[in-house]
Amino acid sequence: MEQQPAKAAPKAGGGAARAEGVTSLTARRLSEIGMTEEKSRIITGISELDRVLGGGIVLGGVVLLSGEPGVGKSTMLLQLCGAISMEHTVLYVTGEESVRQVKLRAARLHVPQENIFLVAETDVDEICGLIEKTKPELVVIDSIQTMRCMDLNSSSGTVSQVKESTARFLAVAKSKEIPTFLVGHVNKDGAIAGPKVMEHIVDTVLYFEGDKMLPYRVLRAAKNRYGSTNEIGMFDMTGQGLAEIANPSQQLLEGRPLGVSGNCVACTMEGTRSILSEIQALVTKSNFPSPRRACSGFDYNRMSLLVAVLEKRAGFFFGTLDIYVNVVGGLTLNETACDLPMALSIVSSLLDVPIGDKTIAIGELGLGGEVRSVPNLELRLREAERIGFEVAIVPQAALRHVEAAEYPGLKLIGVTYINDAVNVLRGPQC
Ligand SMILES: Nc1ncnc2c1ncn2[C@@H]1O[C@H](COP(=O)(O)OP(=O)(O)OP(=O)(O)O)[C@@H](O)[C@H]1O
Ligand SMILES: [Mg+2]
Repeated sequence: MEQQPAKAAPKAGGGAARAEGVTSLTARRLSEIGMTEEKSRIITGISELDRVLGGGIVLGGVVLLSGEPGVGKSTMLLQLCGAISMEHTVLYVTGEESVRQVKLRAARLHVPQENIFLVAETDVDEICGLIEKTKPELVVIDSIQTMRCMDLNSSSGTVSQVKESTARFLAVAKSKEIPTFLVGHVNKDGAIAGPKVMEHIVDTVLYFEGDKMLPYRVLRAAKNRYGSTNEIGMFDMTGQGLAEIANPSQQLLEGRPLGVSGNCVACTMEGTRSILSEIQALVTKSNFPSPRRACSGFDYNRMSLLVAVLEKRAGFFFGTLDIYVNVVGGLTLNETACDLPMALSIVSSLLDVPIGDKTIAIGELGLGGEVRSVPNLELRLREAERIGFEVAIVPQAALRHVEAAEYPGLKLIGVTYINDAVNVLRGPQC
């Protein structure tokens, strides 16, 4: 009991230093604050980027664009500068390259150069001063790890430098309402501060992902104060820079083998966009005492669960068989709507019965072998029809909510249990 007053003492002391009810602050009524939503964003015209940003760049917003070395961060931002420089002035600050190198890239990317101002500098206060003096309509800092606050002793790239530099750029961005893009490098060894420490400070965090193995790069929002984080943008890296992939389904299905067993097309949702992707399965006789299961682009445990359902509910036996599963194009399918196409591709390979080239399967598989409804069925069917699919194996239960007449090119086959779907596969319908 005696300890409590002792603990409370500093609080009471702090309170006593402040006279009651004295403040310079006034709070404004929420309803009285003006809203100019249309004018508060800059539409870049790069629709993949606009979508991920939640409908354009928010004035005063600070966006962190991070990604592995060489993925194309500088390319993306230079193209962004070019896209908006027709109507807006842009300040591009490079701490990593010389202005000549940026110029060379701009020439290669055919970026309009009139309204883009370039400076090679790493002193944060100098740059902030330049921003305040010239008042550009967009600022790009490439990269935040090279920036340095001269009043701090640590070298650039350390956690304290990165945090402080971000905070200073943020203060200028907010006070002058200038949208600012910061490039952040991803580092695995932790010696140099990664962008993680900045994620709380900035408004939006974008990850630009790509793999040497993948034909495309994916832009995702990990955090967005002004939009959804479900959306993705897809780009192709070409000699002329990043090209938008407006039709990923077409690209992912291009060149797929027709009439081969073990292939089934699935439809996954990436934000508001439906993307068709091919699942391939290979079921072969095992040479090992415990058969191998390998999975790429799909959750391993989920695949094991589906195999167990196929054994228990559909009467198949995989005990002496290896199962290899691959999602073509490097996509990761982590939606339950991909259960049915995954199960069907495994059965197709096991039976060596090809699934029709123009057939798609959509549905979740329950442990009882039942095929369950999935969200956004209409969007998925529309995409399948648009790409030219003719048969869709869908959950029977979902057909009640779907108007078949809306998809004249698509024959909808409702299935209740996995066995029904296997029968469709064996039958003449697909
Ligand atoms: N002439 C070219 N033709 C095709 N692709 C090119 C060409 N020059 C560069 N690239 C591509 O651009 C990528 C580099 O882009 P960029 O410099 O924008 O990446 P970055 O993410 O900014 O890299 P860093 O982390 O080093 O700053 C290369 O990995 C390559 O794929
Ligand atoms: Mg770069």
